[in-house]
This record gives sequence, structure tokens and C-alpha cells, in this order.
Amino acid sequence: MIEPAFPPPAPEPLALSAEELLTTTRAVRKRLDFDRPVPREALERCVALALQAPSGSNRWALQFVFVTEPARRQALAEIYRGAYAHYQASPGYIGKVDKHDGTRNAQQQRTAGSADFLAENLHRAPVIAVACTYGRFAADAGAGHAAGLFGSAAPGIWSFMLAARLYGLGTAWTTMNFARREDTEATARLLEIPQDKVTMVSVFPVAYTLGTEFRPALRPEPHEVTHWETW
Ligand SMILES: Cc1cc2nc3c(=O)[nH]c(=O)nc-3n(C[C@H](O)[C@H](O)[C@H](O)COP(=O)(O)O)c2cc1C
Repeated sequence: MIEPAFPPPAPEPLALSAEELLTTTRAVRKRLDFDRPVPREALERCVALALQAPSGSNRWALQFVFVTEPARRQALAEIYRGAYAHYQASPGYIGKVDKHDGTRNAQQQRTAGSADFLAENLHRAPVIAVACTYGRFAADAGAGHAAGLFGSAAPGIWSFMLAARLYGLGTAWTTMNFARREDTEATARLLEIPQDKVTMVSVFPVAYTLGTEFRPALRPEPHEVTHWETW
């Protein structure tokens, strides 16, 4: 039997239980340490763990592009900011979502402040990761195609983020670089991503976190999202 080959453990993992890891892996924006370099070994370790996630037909379609060059990070962040300004002015902006509850609205405003901060500072993250998947998104191919394409990438990306948290790193899943067709194309051109066979799924900063304590977030009660037998 072939044993999985993991690269040597990078930095010491934090002492977190599985439940703590699952409940405290947040979208980290204001607590990214922009000044501390992230060693390549730490990223490779997270990729190794992410590769244990499931993918359609066991095809391992997920790919990561790690951007560390300052000029490229700046260019990625500029595309992000252009799309973000457009988004901020739209009714769907995170700060305009009404959750019809004082506590939830207050949390929503905090998240909006955090999202605004990331838009202004994304270029400062020592690493910007672009997660991609083999396969070309075709809007007219139906829900099964979209479910397979994005469903083969999302578990691995989230596993990467959980692994990153385990090693003291923060991430925040974003899609702003794909908000408009021109942003998607500019991002792909910048990173030389072959769009005829690869789809970009998520852009996220990777940096050590300022402090390692994070709390579970306010979320709906399980019964609010659970249906039994039929919808
Ligand atoms: C598909 C997807 C797209 C997202 N896009 C963005 C984004 O463009 N910018 C951003 O700041 N956060 C983005 N987020 C992060 C969400 O805002 C975040 O997961 C949510 O507010 C919950 O945050 P928490 O886990 O820290 O509580 C995205 C998350 C997902 C899953």
C-alpha cells in the first residue's frame, strides 16, 4: 500500500480540538499580520492536507497559485478594489443586508467594516492565493455541471483554510476578482491562468494571524436551516 507522502510538518500546530478548529476558522481580515513572512513549507503543508478532500470522480482538479511578488499582489488587489467599489454601491453590498434582528445586524455591520478593510489592504498580505479548478465553467451546461465543477474545488479550499488556521494562519475566501467578466479576465491574464481549461474559484489572503484566539460566530440555529424528509 502506498502511504500518503506529507511534507514535514511546518510550524507547530496550535492546540485546537476538532470542534474548536471547525467553530473558530473565521474570515480573517483585520487580524492578518502583514509584516510576518509565511514560509513556503507552511503553504505546502496546507496543500497536502487540502488534497485529502473529496473531488468529483476523484480527479483532484483543485490547483493553487500562490502570489508573493509585491507587484502582482498590488495588481490583484487593484482588480479587487475596482470590483469592490462597484459592489459597495450595489444593493447586495454586505453592509446593506438587513437581517431583521438587532444583534445580527450589528454583526453584519462589523463584517462590512472588515470587508471594507480587506479591500483597502489586500495587497499587504504576504501571500495571495488563487484557488482554481480544472474544467471550464459553461453557464449553459446546467446545474449538474456547475455543482460538479465548484463542488470539486470547495471542499479542498475549505480544508486548506482549516489547515491554515491549525498552523496559525488566517485566510478569507473572496470572489470579488470574478465579479465582472473584465475582472476575471484581468486576473487570469495577470497570473497566466489558461481560462480555456481552468476556472478560478477563490482568491484569499494568507498571513499569520495577530493573536491566535478566535471565537465562534453568530449563526442561525440549526432548526432554522434544517428540513426533515421534505423541504
Ligand atoms: C463564496 C464566498 C464568497 C465570498 N466573497 C467575499 C469577498 O469577495 N470579500 C470578502 O471580504 N469576503 C468574502 N467572503 C467571506 C464571507 O463574507 C464570510 O465567510 C462571512 O462573512 C462569514 O464570516 P466568518 O466566518 O468570519 O463569520 C466570501 C465567502 C464565500 C464563501
